[in-house]
Amino acid sequence: MTADDQKRISGEAAAQLVEAGMVVGLGTGSTAAWFVKALAARGLDIRGVPTSEATANLARELGMTLASLDDVKSIDLTVDGADEIGPGLSLIKGGGAALLREKLVWEASARCVVIADAAKHVKTLGRFPLPIEVVRFGHPHTGRRLADIAAEFDLPPPRLRTADRGVVVTDGGNVIYDMASGVIEDPAALAGALKSVTGVVDHGLFLDLADEALIGTDDGVVKLVP
Ligand code: A5P
Repeated sequence: MTADDQKRISGEAAAQLVEAGMVVGLGTGSTAAWFVKALAARGLDIRGVPTSEATANLARELGMTLASLDDVKSIDLTVDGADEIGPGLSLIKGGGAALLREKLVWEASARCVVIADAAKHVKTLGRFPLPIEVVRFGHPHTGRRLADIAAEFDLPPPRLRTADRGVVVTDGGNVIYDMASGVIEDPAALAGALKSVTGVVDHGLFLDLADEALIGTDDGVVKLVP
């Protein structure tokens, strides 16, 4: 089975968790896109709260009814992908630059389900560079403070994310610094240190947020709990 097939079956399994009348958080990325497609195909009367402009566009194309986070009191279920799933369902997210809206939607949700292909399930977080969302104003200064924090954790300085068109700007108008590490020994300590920096809006460590994971494997979908 290809990684994309594994993503597809995890997204399809998660779509079965949705019931009519629910408010559903719609994640971002290629795995979440499989979920959105499978959910749309069920034709349920639900409202979707997208975590990015890209997901909003996909959901609209599929005819889904959307609501903004501002318009709902709570979200029944959010389904989203991840870049890494580590011990206790600790996660790295933000490879698609949507981590801030994703975390806001996750935190407003009664239940959060992470979906992924098998390669995302790791023994320790850190192989995937940790995305950190930073306000644009003065970001080189914030970047230097992040480099100081990285040094305290024996990590190399984070790098400003760029793409073909230059510096990547998030849906919220911020920039992303990626902190490559290899191994994050103490995710909670690192999360706390990063949040203490003025200019850091948030980071891609999602700790104690996922209620379950549905991992697509060659033997089918495996459910994990923290
Ligand atoms: C988006 O910002 C991310 O958090 C994605 O959920 C994550 O990068 C997973 O993306 P894929 O499902 O495309 O691997």
